[in-house]
Amino acid sequence: MAFKLPDLPYGYDALQPHIDEKTMNIHHTKHHAGYTSKLNAAIEGTDLEKASIEDILKKVSKHSDAVRNNGGGFYNHSLFWKSMSPAGGGQPGKTSKLGKAMIKAFKTYDNFKEQFTKAATTRFGSGWAWLCVTRTGNLFITSTPNQDNPLMDVADKKGTPIAGLDVWEHAYYLNYQNKRGDYISAFFEVIDWKEIGKRYAAATKPAKAKTAKAKAKPTSVTKAATKAKAKATKPARSIKKKKK
Ligand SMILES: [Fe+2]
Repeated sequence: MAFKLPDLPYGYDALQPHIDEKTMNIHHTKHHAGYTSKLNAAIEGTDLEKASIEDILKKVSKHSDAVRNNGGGFYNHSLFWKSMSPAGGGQPGKTSKLGKAMIKAFKTYDNFKEQFTKAATTRFGSGWAWLCVTRTGNLFITSTPNQDNPLMDVADKKGTPIAGLDVWEHAYYLNYQNKRGDYISAFFEVIDWKEIGKRYAAATKPAKAKTAKAKAKPTSVTKAATKAKAKATKPARSIKKKKK
């Protein structure tokens, strides 16, 4: 099944004045659409057509550069659009799960903002800045080059991305020219903490489910142990029979 370019969850002009309509339109209909069609071309007729984009990216070192670049581009932009909203901005609620995780990781929202801005500013050339979650639910900030992301097995720091900022020039040059810093500041005016909070909850849920499963395991372990014990006694019996 071919991957499909997702619709934007708002109009092309909805994020103005922070991100202009023309940039959003070209970014979605040309760049994101391009990554999507090239990804589909790269996986056509292979088993990857049946895989999820997450599964493809997690083992991306086994695939071609075309899959890495365009699969990354497809996934990253899909997450990017939903990291923003016309009703965005502000901070995550301090008593929310995400707000608590943020305080645990960065002490204050301002520290988070400073570290994220640094990651986005210092990413040399084209790439992305990310807010991610570890398997244990801890937040961290990282950046990746080109269309790589922290889901990929080739990433320096791996985790589940819950917010991403595109710092390719195509994301801001029409409105901000070389002023990447102004574009990064504008991103904080539209960042959608509600959606990012949902992603944080989803990313930390499987870990809890695994813990619950692990807690339930003693029963199956006991059953397996009983089975193994039963099996272990069999040869002894047959040896006995042989002796007879
Ligand atoms: Fe982009």
